[in-house]
Amino acid sequence: MQLNLLAIGDVVAESGLAYLTRSLRTIRREEQIDFVVCNGENASGVGITPQQAQDLLDCGVDVVTLGNHTWGKIRITDLLDESPYLLRPANFSRRVPGRGWGIYDGPGGLRIGVMNLIGRVSMDPNPDNPFTTADTILRKMQADVILVDFHAEATSEKLAMGWYLDGRVSAVWGTHTHVPTADARILPKGTGYITDLGMTGPADSVLGVQPQLSINRFLGGLPRRYQSAEGPCKIEGAVFTIDTQKKGCVQVRQRFWQEDGRKGSQP
Ligand SMILES: [Fe+2]
Repeated sequence: MQLNLLAIGDVVAESGLAYLTRSLRTIRREEQIDFVVCNGENASGVGITPQQAQDLLDCGVDVVTLGNHTWGKIRITDLLDESPYLLRPANFSRRVPGRGWGIYDGPGGLRIGVMNLIGRVSMDPNPDNPFTTADTILRKMQADVILVDFHAEATSEKLAMGWYLDGRVSAVWGTHTHVPTADARILPKGTGYITDLGMTGPADSVLGVQPQLSINRFLGGLPRRYQSAEGPCKIEGAVFTIDTQKKGCVQVRQRFWQEDGRKGSQP
């Protein structure tokens, strides 16, 4: 049996959320997608509200993952405890609410495991070691397919995680930098991999933010509150095709959609 798993890059702002919620049913049908994981930690710019998380789940996302902005909208804490479909990084301290991994029902009775981890290079150094956390979770996770969203800044840390988990999980992808990398591949022991999926939000922006606000910061101007950019949105992600007999990934395809049709898909 082959499964198509769509991983969607960080949803940024209400406009990115709206474009995704309008588009995902069609994308699922056209791409014959069986399961969707989406990083949602920037749906509010910084953080995600319970309603935004519910909107993602209602539009066809199976599991929402988060990252360094998990607590940006602190009222998400109750839903993190209540919903198994909303994950925060598993290597956060045990003192915080929620969970970092889960096992979900896939087609044909398959058990699909999803793990959310956060990196420590050029980020908050306090989370537990994501590599050894993955080891601990994999010892407990009884699943037919295992997917890992590694929310991290450094390409080196993400690549190292891909190689570390090669052959032990079905796919590893990076999130957080909002810029897609051109390195989608299958690692030697069968794990599908990409360093960063990119983002889902305003196309004419600096990582989702109005360009002039970002430029002002780099010019050394007075600090101004970041605001999300306007204009057409894009969706960036990757489709991992998993062969459940071979227990590995047989194809990875980066996928892009844009609201005004300026950019097509990449094979
Ligand atoms: Fe992030």
